[in-house]
Amino acid sequence: MVDLEVRAKMQETNHPEFSNVSDQSIPTFPPVSADQKGIPRLGLGTASEGPLGASVEIVKEAILQAIKHGYRHFDTAPIYQTEKLLGEAISDALRLGLIKSRDELFITSKLWCSDAHHDRVLPALQKTLNNLKLEYLDLYLIHWPVSVRSGDQYELPIKKEDIVPIDPKSVWEAMEQCEELGLTKSIGVSNFSCKKLQTILSTAKIPPVVNQVEMNPMWQQKKLRKFCEEKGIRIMAYSPLGAANRVMECELLKEIAQAKGKSIAQVCLRWAYEEGVCVLVKSFNKERMKENLDIFNWKLSREESHKISLLPQRKGFTGEGFISDDGPYKSLEQLWDGEI
Ligand code: A2P
Repeated sequence: MVDLEVRAKMQETNHPEFSNVSDQSIPTFPPVSADQKGIPRLGLGTASEGPLGASVEIVKEAILQAIKHGYRHFDTAPIYQTEKLLGEAISDALRLGLIKSRDELFITSKLWCSDAHHDRVLPALQKTLNNLKLEYLDLYLIHWPVSVRSGDQYELPIKKEDIVPIDPKSVWEAMEQCEELGLTKSIGVSNFSCKKLQTILSTAKIPPVVNQVEMNPMWQQKKLRKFCEEKGIRIMAYSPLGAANRVMECELLKEIAQAKGKSIAQVCLRWAYEEGVCVLVKSFNKERMKENLDIFNWKLSREESHKISLLPQRKGFTGEGFISDDGPYKSLEQLWDGEI
């Protein structure tokens, strides 16, 4: 790790390590209101498998590299244990002059299930902001349509006996209060089916702006996307490379990638971008992070998109851990309201 002061000097003197600070601009969705930013259509996910442990420095350094290479949208959550690291990377980026102001970034975090109770929402957001050392989030999401018995439970797997029904109305009211207090510029949900979104919409004063869900060529979410489009809700695609449903091994995507001189990952990301969603891709590897940015100046042909649209579908993240005999969801069918 290079010391911060040394880094700043390297940057001032145009050292090769910092000579290609990218101006690569990532397309954004138009802002919903005057005090919100447009959502950058590609963001860096920060969820990683297993405990972060010794990789803490790697994650922080990766986020700093991402900012250097032009990423401006970052997605975190208490359960990922990356909020503090993202906060430190943002502070470093400001000190190094990689960005002039925090306002250049779009930052999303999420309400974990053990905080999905009316009275715990605001304190949870305050804790998140404290972790990030930020005054506001750009987007705050209900992470899952699930509540876990109150208590500081930020670990997986969740104890089955602690899973209780979420009260969508009162939790959403508390989310609205967070936006009204200016602690987040916008609010939304994650892993919600059409039916569960409709429940929120039926009482919401402020409708959710985003539903963040798994989406990749092998889990295309056609029904949910149509519903969200009709309701003016943006889809944010997580797991666009489908690590959990082996998208990178798909023969069709391999063929398309070869024909285009692109990687399978780039084909997946371009596909999601062309489908009109915002894509969150996680990589802590500098080369892959750069590779994932190179999706804006080429296109899939109509035939390629059509072939992708016919791929057999298989969900990667089922949410099995939220299913319990005595809890609100006794089967995956119930959790996803049949959308599985
Ligand atoms: P890494 O951080 O080592 O790059 P998913 O879309 O399902 O969340 O997949 C994320 C996984 O894909 C991560 O393990 C990440 O590993 C890997 N990954 C990210 N970008 C690429 C890429 N361009 N090529 C291959 N693997 C990638």
